[in-house]
Amino acid sequence: MHLPIILTGDRTTGPLHLGHYVGSLQARVRLQHTHDQYLLLADTQALTDNMGTPQKVSDNVLEVTFDYLAAGIDPRKSTIFVQSQIPELAELSMLLLNLVSVSRLERNPTIKAEIALRGFERDIPAGFLVYPVAQAADITAFKATLVPVGDDQLPMIEQTNELVRKFNTLVNKEVLVECKALLSQVTRLPGIDGNAIALGASPDEIKKAVKQMYTDCNHLRIDDPGEIDGNVVFSMLDAFEQDRVMLAELKAKYRRGGLGDGVLKRRLEDHLQELLAPIRERRQLFAADRQEVLAILKQGTDRARETAARTVGEVKRALGLNYFE
Ligand code: TRP
Repeated sequence: MHLPIILTGDRTTGPLHLGHYVGSLQARVRLQHTHDQYLLLADTQALTDNMGTPQKVSDNVLEVTFDYLAAGIDPRKSTIFVQSQIPELAELSMLLLNLVSVSRLERNPTIKAEIALRGFERDIPAGFLVYPVAQAADITAFKATLVPVGDDQLPMIEQTNELVRKFNTLVNKEVLVECKALLSQVTRLPGIDGNAIALGASPDEIKKAVKQMYTDCNHLRIDDPGEIDGNVVFSMLDAFEQDRVMLAELKAKYRRGGLGDGVLKRRLEDHLQELLAPIRERRQLFAADRQEVLAILKQGTDRARETAARTVGEVKRALGLNYFE
């Protein structure tokens, strides 16, 4: 049976949090039943702006794997693999790099935004500037046709498809395959003042995070009318409140005045505690069995490497780089 191929990835700079769960993990758990899904632990990409602290990147490869497994990714259905352990991805990146100009890379909106965010200016690591090409290699090595991403990653998909068309035109053969972004409905949760809730957060950490969530600074007394826009607690309830009728009523009442922040926060906290308790439990079980999780990762990486090697073989053959065949 031939299922559509999905590839998706996460930089391994830290464990995953609630935003990842809502934005992508939940969808991936669903998609693994109907798609041939590859989950990339993007440690090499994470190094492009963390080369000074490589351990931060390598330590989190297993942490993110625990998150995947705890959230319900089934290694028999999805292939979880580590980017740095597949040299063919670096090889494909090297070849594709010749099909893109430096000025095109500098115009990539995601790269531009990230350069500004990190204050790199001209001191940008070359590896960082070219990571969209490495990402194109990640996607095309697996001939993925679907890439679930947040909207911040759309320019990456566009650049990938540009490279696919350029390469195929160059060799006059459909070797690489174009892909489509698969956007999730709730694209991203608002940042909770920089302290996002980790998937493995303890009940106390969840409680504390909800307590600190920003509401409306002008909503001082319960009777004051409150603002919904920009109110983090309501944005979170938008994502986690199943009872939509109740949510609409809460919003109306909050706007009118007469609804306190404490009631809202308690409701949100209940939902989050209920959602995260089973995930935390499963995560603890996996974290207690590192050898087993490493074996899962190794198996996934071996499988992924075979696929990538096949594509890179085709790419090199199309370029005439197959002297010894
Ligand atoms: N750029 C993605 C991020 O910042 C991670 C990533 C690397 C990725 N390679 C990918 C996502 C390929 C989708 C497809 O989270």
